[in-house]
Amino acid sequence: MSFIEWNEQLVTGIDDFDHDHRQLVGLLNKAYDDFILGTPNENVADILNEMIHYAGHHFAAEENWMLQNGYPGLAEHRREHENFCTSVLELQDGYNLGKEHISLEVLQFLKTWIRKHLLESDADYSLFNKTVVLKNTVCGATRP
Ligand SMILES: [Fe+2]
Ligand SMILES: [Fe+2]
Repeated sequence: MSFIEWNEQLVTGIDDFDHDHRQLVGLLNKAYDDFILGTPNENVADILNEMIHYAGHHFAAEENWMLQNGYPGLAEHRREHENFCTSVLELQDGYNLGKEHISLEVLQFLKTWIRKHLLESDADYSLFNKTVVLKNTVCGATRP
């Protein structure tokens, strides 16, 4: 069983973002599996760093989409992304300086944040996309 199980509830219906989310979940699952198998800390940290780097690009893409589509929850959503980045940078500082080891708590924090963010905040723009954005398009073009 995976650390984060992928299921239909996590699907936004926006292909690029679903692809990103699968990548993020996949990387976290890999970090967890390696951690459990006793892989050296630096290697787990490398996977987490890759995941965090990927998350940064993904957040920017989501925020751009929100801006382009007039999503009313952009400011709040952006704050959530920023809070995540702040927490992660603190964690990274900790393990890069050797103060902390990667722990189950770190992995659990990432899991909880990602699941909650996908199921609540990202699900919210997914609903906006289905109920507002897609209604304003005809044959793939946006209505004026
Ligand atoms: Fe997302
Ligand atoms: Fe998001």
